[in-house]
Amino acid sequence: MAHLLHLDASARRASFSRELSRTYARSWRAANPDGGYVYRDLSADPVPHIGEAWTELCDYVLANGITDPARYHEAARTPALREAWKTVEPLLAEVLAADVVLIGTPMYNYSIPSSLKAWLDQITFPRMSLAGRSFVVTSARGGAYGPGTPKERVDHQERYLRDFFQGHFAVEDVRFIHVELANAVIDPALAHLKDRHEESYRTARAEALR
Ligand SMILES: Cc1cc2nc3c(=O)[nH]c(=O)nc-3n(C[C@H](O)[C@H](O)[C@H](O)COP(=O)(O)O)c2cc1C
Repeated sequence: MAHLLHLDASARRASFSRELSRTYARSWRAANPDGGYVYRDLSADPVPHIGEAWTELCDYVLANGITDPARYHEAARTPALREAWKTVEPLLAEVLAADVVLIGTPMYNYSIPSSLKAWLDQITFPRMSLAGRSFVVTSARGGAYGPGTPKERVDHQERYLRDFFQGHFAVEDVRFIHVELANAVIDPALAHLKDRHEESYRTARAEALR
């Protein structure tokens, strides 16, 4: 049975990245009526930042050459480490159970929201492979960062997530669906770009349905 893990990270409820992830999830669930589905709102229900105990779990896994996530629990050897593990365990179980990880995320300050980074920090261990899974990112940005744009080189949102999923998790199937120029509907100085934003949104919605 296929399984979808759906995360959202926007601090806004009326959000383009949420709307796109919702569209993708609906379409996926219609195509996989018997599939499993778990939803997590990283903004409304934030994952705590990692603390020192988490780093000790991680160091133990590294020092003992543990690469099988089923053995990570061996690192929780003291009450403080067991407490840290209590946070990690359900988050990690959700990722490991998923065939598709869907992430709705805005671009914040050229990168990703700290709510998403906190989740990534909690679930990531050394030499951890998620190979065979698919990652789909529905994203929204105030500006335009596509190929050939002046800001292409400062897109640390797609580049970071793609490099991390492919480089660290060995995930080959990583797909991005962007809506760009979202600020055109708010910023009067960008009002002349509204049409380009609307076109980008239309294209993104169609991609999310595929
Ligand atoms: C804290 C913050 C930082 C932002 N930083 C950027 C940025 O660096 N580049 C950009 O193009 N837009 C930036 N924006 C605009 C958002 O990317 C845009 O509003 C987008 O639609 C947010 O996604 P959402 O609609 O899913 O909430 C920022 C918005 C916020 C609230």
